Amino acid sequence: MAPDRLDNSLLVIFGGTGDLARRKLYPALFNLFVDGFLPPALRVIAVGRRDFTRDSFRQEILLPSLETFSRRTAYLNTYFRPFATRLHYFRTDIYEPGGYTRLGQFLVEIEEEEAGCRGNRIFYLAVAPEHFGPVVRNLKETGLVPARGWQRVVIEKPFGHDLPSATELNRQLRAAFSEKEIYRIDHYLGKEMIQNIMVIRFANTFFEPVWNNKYIDHVQITSAETAGVEDRGSYYDRAGALRDMVQNHLLQLVTLVAMEPPASLATEAVRDEKVKVLRSLKPLNIAAVGKNAIRGQYGAGEIDGQGVPPYRQEREVDPHSITETFVALKLFIENFRWAGVPFYLRTGKRLPVKVTEIIIQFKSLPDILYFKEYGELRPNLLVIRVQPLEGVFVQLNAKRPGNNNYIAPIRLDFCQNCEVGVNSPEAYERLLYDVMRGDPTLFTRWDEVEAAWQFVDPIANAWAARPPLFPNYAAGQWGPPAARELLIRDGRHWWQEDELPPQRG
Ligand code: BG6
Repeated sequence: MAPDRLDNSLLVIFGGTGDLARRKLYPALFNLFVDGFLPPALRVIAVGRRDFTRDSFRQEILLPSLETFSRRTAYLNTYFRPFATRLHYFRTDIYEPGGYTRLGQFLVEIEEEEAGCRGNRIFYLAVAPEHFGPVVRNLKETGLVPARGWQRVVIEKPFGHDLPSATELNRQLRAAFSEKEIYRIDHYLGKEMIQNIMVIRFANTFFEPVWNNKYIDHVQITSAETAGVEDRGSYYDRAGALRDMVQNHLLQLVTLVAMEPPASLATEAVRDEKVKVLRSLKPLNIAAVGKNAIRGQYGAGEIDGQGVPPYRQEREVDPHSITETFVALKLFIENFRWAGVPFYLRTGKRLPVKVTEIIIQFKSLPDILYFKEYGELRPNLLVIRVQPLEGVFVQLNAKRPGNNNYIAPIRLDFCQNCEVGVNSPEAYERLLYDVMRGDPTLFTRWDEVEAAWQFVDPIANAWAARPPLFPNYAAGQWGPPAARELLIRDGRHWWQEDELPPQRG
């Protein structure tokens, strides 16, 4: 982790009127501002194609974005004006010849006005991935980078569609920025409980000694959504759940659960350990894909009692699409700590609940003293709840009060955030803050991206070679039956919400 050094800079957001900027970036910047975490001379330049003046941008884009998406709307009266003075709007098309030169002049003018910025520049590419390469090339060719101070570029996912395209994108980025200047966002890493995984593991004597194949039976990682593809059909239909969620978010969770303790909390020490996990993933050959990689696509069904259309009828989705909206995987990490311990992953759209959680199931003790006769013996579980509620609970067996030896499961339940979304900073707050202070620990390094694609590509290729019979689950179900069977045939089952203590709220 880098030292807290919050330099002033210009933050240039390409896609400044787009969805990501409005839903995530402005609200996050506003929350950081309210909390006093923005550098005093930071200026934000929203770059967009639409015709706005500085004032109309603030009124028509910025204010509604904060009113709708900030967790701090109560502060708008007091803080909106001073916050808004930090924002500028610059109109150009990212392909307009001369647009970058004009932008460069504009940045210099602001830097002259606000000497505190010292020529430090952050370029945030909140645009569709096909524009990443051209924007960066133009920045370089028109001399916007190198900046007079330091420079950084922030890149959203998807980082490529497969290994060759990711490699090409990386080559284009590296033509203008060094690896240290590239911040590849995986917003899961900005989530509070995900940052907590390392703390839980490495700051508690309880866990580290049993965190291995001697004591852990298996790991389950679920990231389920009730939403469908909403207005992202055209992107999603080309990506699918494997590329959209597994290649990045889920494999990142695997790395945090499975990594060795790093030598220190320094950025590269942490990333070195994470990449070792990705490199130790046992590749799935065609036979293993058939057995251990389950895909699904939702048909019509019900979510919260409301009928919803099938995936193939979503906007901008091919009516014959064979894109998967659900993935379940069984994978192994081939190293001394994890040999033989299955990691089961599942993710999908239109599942019964919105939940992300990690369940570590410990091995059962031999049935010598306490067995079924004494009541309901449950395995020890450590559950890390990432969202919507944030917390940790541990399931233990204990004596039931009374004159006999009956046993019942008890739960040590720590709920960090029992009021959804109220207390915890959102992922983008932490990530933007880290970009501004130059700490890339929570961003993915190129070799992590590369290793993740190396694992995912053979699955995607095997699937592409065998068209599936879709749809194979109804919206509102936990994916196709094969996802359940993946565990049942191993004598295990997915822990469902109703078997775990209720989420308090
Ligand atoms: C994004 C995916 O990266 O993560 C989306 O592209 C998905 O398809 C989203 O909905 C889920 O994020 P969260 O934070 O709601 O779990």
